[in-house]
Amino acid sequence: MSEAPVYTLAEGRPVQDPTSSVVLRGPHVRGAGLALLEDTQLIETLAHFPRERIPERVVHAKAAGAWGEFECTKDITDWCSAAIFSKVGKKTPVLARISTVAGERGSSDTLRDIRGFALKFKTEEGNLDFVGNDLPVFFIRDPAKFPSLNRSHKRHPQTGVADASMFWDFHNNNQEGVHCLMQLFGPRGVPASLRNVNAFGNHTFKFGKPEDGTFKYVKIHFRPDAGIKTLKHEEAVRLAGEEPDYHIKDMYNAIEKGDFPSWTMSLQVMDPKDAETYKWNIFDITKTWSHEDYPLIPVGRLTLNKNPDNYFQDIEQAAFSPSTLIPGIAPSADLMLHARMFSYPDAARYRVGPNYQQLPCNRALNVYSPYQRDGAMRIDGNYGPDPDYVRSSFRKVRSGPADVAHDEWIGKVQAYSSEVTDIDFEQPRILWSIFKKNGDDEFFISNLAGHVNKALPEVQKETIKMFSKVDEEIGKRLDEAISKLADNVDHTPSAAASVLRNQRR
Ligand code: HEM
Repeated sequence: MSEAPVYTLAEGRPVQDPTSSVVLRGPHVRGAGLALLEDTQLIETLAHFPRERIPERVVHAKAAGAWGEFECTKDITDWCSAAIFSKVGKKTPVLARISTVAGERGSSDTLRDIRGFALKFKTEEGNLDFVGNDLPVFFIRDPAKFPSLNRSHKRHPQTGVADASMFWDFHNNNQEGVHCLMQLFGPRGVPASLRNVNAFGNHTFKFGKPEDGTFKYVKIHFRPDAGIKTLKHEEAVRLAGEEPDYHIKDMYNAIEKGDFPSWTMSLQVMDPKDAETYKWNIFDITKTWSHEDYPLIPVGRLTLNKNPDNYFQDIEQAAFSPSTLIPGIAPSADLMLHARMFSYPDAARYRVGPNYQQLPCNRALNVYSPYQRDGAMRIDGNYGPDPDYVRSSFRKVRSGPADVAHDEWIGKVQAYSSEVTDIDFEQPRILWSIFKKNGDDEFFISNLAGHVNKALPEVQKETIKMFSKVDEEIGKRLDEAISKLADNVDHTPSAAASVLRNQRR
């Protein structure tokens, strides 16, 4: 056994006893005595403690994380030059973080919510981040609505508790989210474990060969090799109370046992000329591409095989961003994606600090970025004497590869209208027919009723109307299910309710 280390102050001074304070005790004072400013050990330990927290993520605060690898299993080099696909059998190290969205860091894992699925592939041509969700579509398609969407799912400003009236009021007035709501309240809303969730890139990306300016539109999918498994409502509710960290423990224990979670990465691939005539707008994140039109092409395997050595260091300080792309993979003309490309590094600079990219969890394998210098907590040598301005004669930089072509973006600058039309109800209609075919319709209605029932009656009415636009039958069955629950009214103080009541007076 190695010798026990001597405890030291953070400055390295050995400490005789880290468990006791230094006191001034006069001859007539009974008890412990007075604390002294010279007791550096006491002062340092108390001062550091309240600074141990960094702001939690404003969304996706609760998560499991692990290290792993991605192996390329299909040669796609004839149309995509991204480093992760450079050779069949090529392995790329990966950091993964799988989260819930609305709950805080201490919230329960088994609540009905979207699961976030963030990956950082460390390639020789830089980090590639995949920042997706376990549902294939999203609630909104204009990023200006993102903070409002999340506030309506979180805590009411007056009461500090979740409020079904504001949740449904937001969605009644922003009905482009109906497809995502159907997915959320459907059978996939609570996974059995994080090893059993899908992950989707949601947005359309461009995969291509910068060297010849060609590209294809791509949707990214990860499917769990262990299959999709979900929890029954009652079990999820029990675990939320008894085992709030159920999913995190499950993933940690599986990896410790060597039962490594794995996913198959597949792509849907569309020729750019088909995009203009395809029945759905491929830049609208509330829509999927039919698998019949664009079948899944398996291209690789993701395996998580190592737990973090330290959760805070590896997972809490990790920062993912859809803007972290590598040559051969580029954003498409999706407004939501562009806004996200700004928002994540912005959040990381606030949450972790301006030099977050230097931390081992975030650091790229090869970095030479001397025009980004200084700032708080710079610890990597700061490029020593290298020029800090572009086009220096004293140390030249070589050009890297070009970006995937972006020529299809040229157009008019105008306000985006996310106006909702019947087209927005077509895919939810298809999903409803799938629910019915699979016998999941009753489950969906009862889940939905259990939540809508907690909203104010006037809000409920509008929600029923919204789902009736998907199919009259949903509206009717939802109405009936809510009526049966009527005497089981939720007693959450509804501040949304008090606002409405005041208005009516
Ligand atoms: C986390 C913004 C939409 C997936 C976050 C964070 C912000 C954010 C600020 C916290 C980041 C941090 O503190 O490090 C936005 C905006 C969106 C949007 C502005 C829309 C305009 C989406 C969509 C997806 C998604 C559509 C999935 C397809 C995630 C995931 C995380 C996250 C997985 C957690 C990342 C991690 O593990 O660190 N988002 N988001 N977000 N978001 Fe989004």
